[in-house]
Amino acid sequence: MSEKRHIMAGELKLFMEQVLKSYKVPDDEAEIIADVLISADIQGIDSHGIGRFKPIYIDRLEEGILEPITRLEVISDNMATALLDANDGFGHVAGKKAMKLAIEKARTYGISIVSVKNSSHYGIAGYYAQMAADSGMIGITGTNARPSIAPTFGVENMLGTNPLTIAVPSDEDFDFVLDCATSTTQRGKIEKYARENKPLPKGWVINHEGNSGEDPKLVLDQLVKGYAALTPLGGVGEDNGGYKGYGYATFIEILSSGLHLGPYMQSLIGRDESGKPSPYRLGHFFIAINVSHFVEEESFRKHTGDILRALRASQKAPGEDRIYTAGEKEHIFRLQREKTGIPIDDVVNGQIQELKRRCGLK
Ligand SMILES: NC(=O)c1ccc[n+]([C@@H]2O[C@H](COP(=O)([O-])OP(=O)(O)OC[C@H]3O[C@@H](n4cnc5c(N)ncnc54)[C@H](O)[C@@H]3O)[C@@H](O)[C@H]2O)c1
Repeated sequence: MSEKRHIMAGELKLFMEQVLKSYKVPDDEAEIIADVLISADIQGIDSHGIGRFKPIYIDRLEEGILEPITRLEVISDNMATALLDANDGFGHVAGKKAMKLAIEKARTYGISIVSVKNSSHYGIAGYYAQMAADSGMIGITGTNARPSIAPTFGVENMLGTNPLTIAVPSDEDFDFVLDCATSTTQRGKIEKYARENKPLPKGWVINHEGNSGEDPKLVLDQLVKGYAALTPLGGVGEDNGGYKGYGYATFIEILSSGLHLGPYMQSLIGRDESGKPSPYRLGHFFIAINVSHFVEEESFRKHTGDILRALRASQKAPGEDRIYTAGEKEHIFRLQREKTGIPIDDVVNGQIQELKRRCGLK
């Protein structure tokens, strides 16, 4: 494989904004979408940034299953709760506005939850949880997604990779941000392995014969056809606690859809009865907990920081020289990539060049 080229984050963000605008996405909404995507790249979450820009978002705009304008409608608004309808628009726009509303409500009520229906893939969940932490609050968010995970003892793709994502403010340069799927791995990482032609680690997927596949392109095809499924966090069977991930994924599926009685699991395949592409109609939820309704924010931040510092300072396993806390690796990536730019592989570079041509960009 040829050496990766690097593009500075600001330049890449501007490119995504310009492409989105040429697809009639309003300026302010294009900025939000590009900001969420570039935030993934700059934090080293390569599965959810520029690599998904064309194949997920632009292709869906082209297919007409994603609305360029996110007409966010308030369905109900009762003190600490609200329900919004994203009307098949961008999940990033709905997500940012929903978490902003949750934070405003938590200033008054101490805790709040905002539910969103008829939305689409909102990218990295951590972006929205971090918004709450930046405001001195605990942020929790989750979303359902295309069915991918098999239940423990099953092989059928039933649940989405349903991230359960939490951000807690600390007194350090980075907060505690646990941002991950409830599957052992997620589709975006398999796409990245496919782009890099690398074999998948064992145990990430289970097919109908009960075997694990290693060819990422074949696995992606089998996932789409429903012949293989991702394993829940903890892996196959009960021995490594796979039923725990299965339970968390189920909870996210319920909370993402149940508060508006929306579609769930296999009705989220993005196809209508005739097999034609159709909007995904995903649900998300956003929770903000205002710590200052309990204790002084500064003391809470120090308390969190003390816990994180104690964990990192604890005895290392033989052969290991460092213990991380959640959010730390993304912070390290940010510091590095702000200087070096974002690495772009050949496949993504090809997509960028194609979009440049299509949209007449220099
Ligand atoms: N929108 C969707 O439908 C959807 C679905 C699934 C995942 N996602 C996103 O995909 C991204 C990646 O998810 P993933 O499941 O591949 O995450 P992952 O397995 O890479 O885990 C990332 C998390 O683990 C922490 N972490 C990593 N190594 C650690 C260590 N040694 N010690 C302590 N903490 C450590 C990181 O700080 C981070 O919080 C996330 O941003 C997630 O929101 C989105």
